[in-house]
Amino acid sequence: MLYDVIVVGSGISGLFAALYAKRAGSSVVVITKSNPLRSNSAVASGGINAVIHLDTEDSVQQHIQDTINGADGLSNEYNIKEMCKEASDIISELNSMGVQFNADEEGVIQQRPFGGTKAKRTCYVADKTGSAIVQTLLQQCRKEGVEILSNHQLLNIVKFEGKLSGITLLQRSDSHVTAFACKSLILAGGGYGGIFRGHSTNPQESSGDVIAAALRANMKLSNLEFVQFHPTTLKNGTLISEAARGEGAHIVDENGERFTDELQTRDKLSRAIVTHSLQGHKVFLDFRHLPPELIEEKLPSTQKVALYSAGIDIKTELLEITTSAHYSIGGIWTREDTSTDLPGVFACGECALTGVHGANRLGGNSLLEGVYFGRIAGIEASRRAKREEFRPIDYALVNKEYRRVQLMLEGESHFNINSMRKNLGESLFKNVGVYRSEATLMDALDYVYYLMKCQYGLTCVNKEKQNNVELSSIIEFKNALFIAEAMILAALKREESRGVHYRLDFPERNDKLFALSSYIRNLGDGFLRISYEHNRWDEFWYKIKTYFTKLKG
Ligand code: FUM
Repeated sequence: MLYDVIVVGSGISGLFAALYAKRAGSSVVVITKSNPLRSNSAVASGGINAVIHLDTEDSVQQHIQDTINGADGLSNEYNIKEMCKEASDIISELNSMGVQFNADEEGVIQQRPFGGTKAKRTCYVADKTGSAIVQTLLQQCRKEGVEILSNHQLLNIVKFEGKLSGITLLQRSDSHVTAFACKSLILAGGGYGGIFRGHSTNPQESSGDVIAAALRANMKLSNLEFVQFHPTTLKNGTLISEAARGEGAHIVDENGERFTDELQTRDKLSRAIVTHSLQGHKVFLDFRHLPPELIEEKLPSTQKVALYSAGIDIKTELLEITTSAHYSIGGIWTREDTSTDLPGVFACGECALTGVHGANRLGGNSLLEGVYFGRIAGIEASRRAKREEFRPIDYALVNKEYRRVQLMLEGESHFNINSMRKNLGESLFKNVGVYRSEATLMDALDYVYYLMKCQYGLTCVNKEKQNNVELSSIIEFKNALFIAEAMILAALKREESRGVHYRLDFPERNDKLFALSSYIRNLGDGFLRISYEHNRWDEFWYKIKTYFTKLKG
């Protein structure tokens, strides 16, 4: 198959990218490995930030400042400014597509406060904002003729003579390996929070597939050490949206004592909760003082989740909570126009490092980031596709992929994939969690290397070719190990505490040495290089080249 633009990932950024590329006249397909409604965007429930009422205490400048403050000294201020300025238009666009944000009788959109600001800035659809937006976008994509191909898993990015020529995919319906050619590729396949299996709000598919593929393709990754932990989740990782705190729920311990500020940034709140737990306390969300009508109207999903997953009626009982991995701040390094260091490949959404979250993301900014950069990626990828030719796919590579998959299907199985994934999640949560240190990180790294040795004995017990979930899981697990290694190495190298990265052995922020992004490169032969050096010279040439290309039209 040939497409001008291939989008991998069907969350908010992928769907927006596809729409904008299609509107710009490109042939587009969205590739997604499972159901688009299971993306991480659909899980982000509490809302999307935007300053939309200019008569309130809030301002775009304040949104920018809060985002920069939240980022703890590590952010791309240009991207933050542009994203925050665009936010109100983004709400209007979503609204005109049919997203029904909660509004008063006069139709004025309501907003709730989220952590890291004093303002009510988060627009919402009760406590299911992400899924409401994804559903609307899917309808819009269908209306505008965007092709969506589900049940296809990205395997690798294919290059011809060092340049992008397409991707290889696992067709999950029959375990067939196939290749699609494209002129531009948009990676929008989500983050790697799911590798903390058992302790993650993410769908279990969030194993960093696209980020691992980018690393295999020698693309530059950045800031993988920054993983955001959500402060309020059930023990199994189920998210209890920040909407709860935005609507006034308290965080209390077994004595009913409030011990922390519920609307501080997530990095600080997560640490306060973990510290209190380590001191022997239990931690709960308390909704009992909230009017029952408010819970019915604004927190219906939270009420259901608490009842069905924990057997708790939040109107009358306390809901026990803990922290869980939630969002990968680091990812594929991108420029302001979403291009990456591999010409023709663009990245947006959670898998991309755009710098708008710095070292700590504000709740409600991820959906905004997804739309803002998704639109840019669609336009830029389409623009590039117009001036490029298709490059040949090297079928020797496709064959190699096919044989690799066959080996996973045919060999005799020595290990249990489910327990390996669970054990990896346990080790990462314990050792690369809210608190880490050289000793814990080394423990995690040793375990990852042990699992890497075992991975060659990992084959499917179930040899069925149709929709073999085990096969997908093994591929995901291999990606998870690769990303886990890179994440831990980056966390070891950053000998300071900043945002969500808290080193017990280096508890201070150290601007002298670390007010910089980390960069991760695959040197081949199993070696990764972590550095703080950014190639400014390349960037200078990229800007000159782009300028002249745009002049030529
Ligand atoms: O808590 C939440 O609803 C999550 C929102 C987000 O991550 O932005």
